[in-house]
Amino acid sequence: MEIFDTRESAVRSYCRAWPTVFDRAAGSWLYDTDGRAYLDFFAGAGALNYGHNNPALKAALLDYLSDDRIIHSLDMHTVAKREFLTAFDELILLPRQLDYRVQFPGPGGANAVEAALKLARKATGRTQVVTFTNAFHGMTLGALSVTGDSFHRAGAGLPLAHATPMPFDGALNGTTGDFAWLEHLLANRGSGLDDPAAVIVETVQGEGGIRVASPEWLRGLATLCQRHGILLIVDDVQMGCGRTGPFFSFETAGIRPDLVCLSKSIGGFGLPMALTLIRPDLDIWQPGEHNGTFRGVNPAFVTGTAALRTYWHDDSLERSTLAKGQRIAAALAALADSVPGVAIRPRGRGLAHCLAFADSGLAGKVRTAAFERGLLVETAGPDGEAVKLMPPLTITEADLGQGLELLADAVRSVC
Ligand SMILES: Cc1ncc(COP(=O)(O)O)c(C=O)c1O
Repeated sequence: MEIFDTRESAVRSYCRAWPTVFDRAAGSWLYDTDGRAYLDFFAGAGALNYGHNNPALKAALLDYLSDDRIIHSLDMHTVAKREFLTAFDELILLPRQLDYRVQFPGPGGANAVEAALKLARKATGRTQVVTFTNAFHGMTLGALSVTGDSFHRAGAGLPLAHATPMPFDGALNGTTGDFAWLEHLLANRGSGLDDPAAVIVETVQGEGGIRVASPEWLRGLATLCQRHGILLIVDDVQMGCGRTGPFFSFETAGIRPDLVCLSKSIGGFGLPMALTLIRPDLDIWQPGEHNGTFRGVNPAFVTGTAALRTYWHDDSLERSTLAKGQRIAAALAALADSVPGVAIRPRGRGLAHCLAFADSGLAGKVRTAAFERGLLVETAGPDGEAVKLMPPLTITEADLGQGLELLADAVRSVC
């Protein structure tokens, strides 16, 4: 472990919660150098929806590598990119009657967000972006400016401007009409809010502590945006690619965002890749106006294509995600009830769930107790109060049951 302590930056964090050296992984399991097994209820923060070293994806990647095919290509045409775009068109966009131009903005989620923010401002000629309490959109300056968390914002080193936070669904406990304040600001010429270019929203806030927006709230937001000529950006970096059931998390609400950000599991295998999906008439970029060296990671196109062809040719993954999600919701409700005297709220949708502790300090203790039992769970939320459960969508029922038992044991030991 010494080399990490002496050489790696102090910024490292996940390794502090899980102090071991991981080496191998398969499906929902990781193994450390001592051969100890850990059940993964973290799944690369949503980058491993199809599990570790998924055999179908790995086979496609190994074939591609062994034939000396193109690895790096900026935004040049390659066979791997053509196959990815074709599969994305055939299996994702066309069946959902969605029409988007696909931008490859650079490999991370923050790249997808930056591109969406820049394009929204360019297309509308406006600068302000409306964001929501507890939102998380990434660490680059533009993405950070629309992120809520004060700890991360403080790392910017300069004022984060041109973003206006509003209460997310449920933030005011239903005591005030959902969009009353935003409507008031938009309607009042003396409000001080410049006409916004866009609203950026997560349908389920991941890093914010698995806060779920209702379909009604999302529809209300989409209608408000339309009425005021504001572009709607859905950041589906963490909740897209089937995490909440359907491929896009906004499908349940039946809304059509103007811009969509995807990353994490879009490459399928944990390889870096991101997309910004653009309503066609908004695709007003000049060639090369937004560029980057790693916009054509062909191995990620290959595994991304294999993931789409393996898991999205029908709705069986979506159905199994929803069924497993119901099983988790029931188990978490029972678990919360089984520790009287400790205020715990289960929340979630699809295969993104959490246990939110009123006493935020308990969540970190549960994470440690889970690790000691061989279960990886992360904490989320502004005070780290939520123990977050995001297993691979492909997890077996047996592994899911085992993980829930380990979690229950960890919670009871702490509470
Ligand atoms: C909703 C959302 N948007 C953007 C990001 C940033 O993605 P990345 O860390 O790949 O830049 C994340 C990362 O967790 C996220 O959850």
